[in-house]
Amino acid sequence: MKLFIDSAEVEKIREAWGWGIIDGVTTNPSHVAKTGRKHLEVYREICDLVDGPISLETVTLTAKEMVEEGRNLAKIHKNVVIKVPITREGLKAVKTLSGEGLKTNVTVTFSALQAMLAAKCGATYISPFVGRLDACGQFGMEVVRQIKTIYTNFGFKTQVLTAAVRHPTHVLEAALAGSDVCTMGFDVLEQLYHHPLTDIGIDIFLKDWAKVPK
Ligand code: E4P
Repeated sequence: MKLFIDSAEVEKIREAWGWGIIDGVTTNPSHVAKTGRKHLEVYREICDLVDGPISLETVTLTAKEMVEEGRNLAKIHKNVVIKVPITREGLKAVKTLSGEGLKTNVTVTFSALQAMLAAKCGATYISPFVGRLDACGQFGMEVVRQIKTIYTNFGFKTQVLTAAVRHPTHVLEAALAGSDVCTMGFDVLEQLYHHPLTDIGIDIFLKDWAKVPK
């Protein structure tokens, strides 16, 4: 499963990229707002840094505007994936953009039927927001599993990008469900490395090694 970092913080992205486990980046308007910086500056820096798919989100509401915005975002760098919300207008835009050979990530998705529509329009990625579903008392990961089943049933090429993950168990479940990609914040990425038994195990080995005659 590919791992993307969900962030617009260039320094965090730089650090995670240096770990060698990151395949791409997803941003969203909220992440960009948190940086307090101009979006184009942030986007260019991320594109210079990461050699992998980088999702940049449209912030307009009509298909015509989203297509225009998407074409401009795609001009920033060859790795740009145009992130479009899953509305009727959004999917019209996805159909046009994918017809032009541009990559798209259909976002703010909460049901497998929405995901089926996105695949029919040629979306490159579909982003179900599992953590937000969990927060409403639904099983977010169940939507990921349903999407995988539908895509497999009909041979859709759209890749499942599990998003809005909150903890390592979401990442584990995404991998077990066969999600093609999982995107997560820096904190969750860091958590993936940790296991208390690893720390204890290393500590024991080093203490024992100190007893070996030198
Ligand atoms: C994914 O592409 C989104 O940017 C992200 O996962 C949104 O999730 P959150 O704001 O609920 O964390």
